[in-house]
Amino acid sequence: MQDSFGRKIDYMRISVTDRCNLRCKYCMPEYGVKSLEHSDILRFEEISKIALACTNLGVNKFKITGGEPLVRKGVLPFIKSLHKTGQIQSITMTTNAVLVEQYREEILDCGLDSINISLDTLSAGKYEKITGKNELAKVLNAIEFCEKSDICTKVNCVVIKGFNDDEICNIAQLAKDKNIYVRFIEMMPLGMGQQSQWVSNQQILSVLENRFKTIQIDDKIYGNGPAKYYKIQGFKGRIGVISAVSGCFCDSCNRVRLTADGFLKLCLQYDVRTDLKTPIRNGATGQELEEIIKKAVYKKPQKHSFSKDIIKNKEGKNMSQIGG
Ligand code: GTP
Ligand code: 5AD
Ligand code: SF4
Repeated sequence: MQDSFGRKIDYMRISVTDRCNLRCKYCMPEYGVKSLEHSDILRFEEISKIALACTNLGVNKFKITGGEPLVRKGVLPFIKSLHKTGQIQSITMTTNAVLVEQYREEILDCGLDSINISLDTLSAGKYEKITGKNELAKVLNAIEFCEKSDICTKVNCVVIKGFNDDEICNIAQLAKDKNIYVRFIEMMPLGMGQQSQWVSNQQILSVLENRFKTIQIDDKIYGNGPAKYYKIQGFKGRIGVISAVSGCFCDSCNRVRLTADGFLKLCLQYDVRTDLKTPIRNGATGQELEEIIKKAVYKKPQKHSFSKDIIKNKEGKNMSQIGG
């Protein structure tokens, strides 16, 4: 499927819930946001119908997100069942990993192609400060468990000026003895993210270069996202950077998002979306759904404008409600 700018859309991020068991300051207000009603959230059968329509249109990579996807009961059996839908190349998940320990067996059984684990600090005190919960040990155990289980494991670290920019080298060192990808992400000015100061990937790379000297670009592509990867001599894993703000990768954008309440969201930054839940609940056939999705994708904006102050149709929701 192509959009009006000729971009090939083959990747869908499916948010299965807007709820989360953490309260990362840049993502959610401390006291949470009003959660969606259960009846507003797509049932797994409904998501499967949309996924099937999408695979018929050439989408073959799916990322399961939240809020926190593991707080939704049944998400791992759902992932297992999704593998049987159409022509799927990969199903991956982005999680805060607090519940990984609880679902070890099901994670091994559901056939995830990769797991991305959010971790912004290695200090237990700072972890509690940024997420509101004392769960660092569980996350570190989860990274160890996933790597040992041979699941492709990526760590996502959003760098925040004055909070964790002094930990860049220590966090990078997680990839020294482990075959994992440690990715540093520029904080996007979306929702609560507008209240913190971002650090550019150029700055991050120069900190890493000063410390480790031998940092070299790795041209291989690992996954379906916008990360660029680097090798450091003596490291088993890789370092990645996601220039979400400084580097506009919109020209090669390959994705759309399905929100937990059943809207097809066409760009992270804009409130441009198409309702899929109503047609599904009104009995739309697979073919009808495909037509609606194809038409919607034509409305995909050309690019984000994080650098502008005033933006038309700006997304008003928090990242937890979008799925990152
Ligand atoms: P993989 O590398 O295949 O796992 O995909 P990914 O990097 O897209 O997945 P992940 O869910 O870990 O997202 C990492 C970061 O990239 C998050 O901060 C996302 O918000 C950001 N991101 C994902 N898609 C987009 C996008 O379309 N535009 C921008 N600016 N950032 C995005
Ligand atoms: N900018 C960049 N990344 C963000 N995430 C959440 N909010 C933001 C933001 N404002 C990250 C999370 C998670 C991924 C899905 O998105 O840390 O790793
Ligand atoms: Fe939850 Fe992820 Fe948002 Fe943190 S970043 S509050 S873990 S949805």
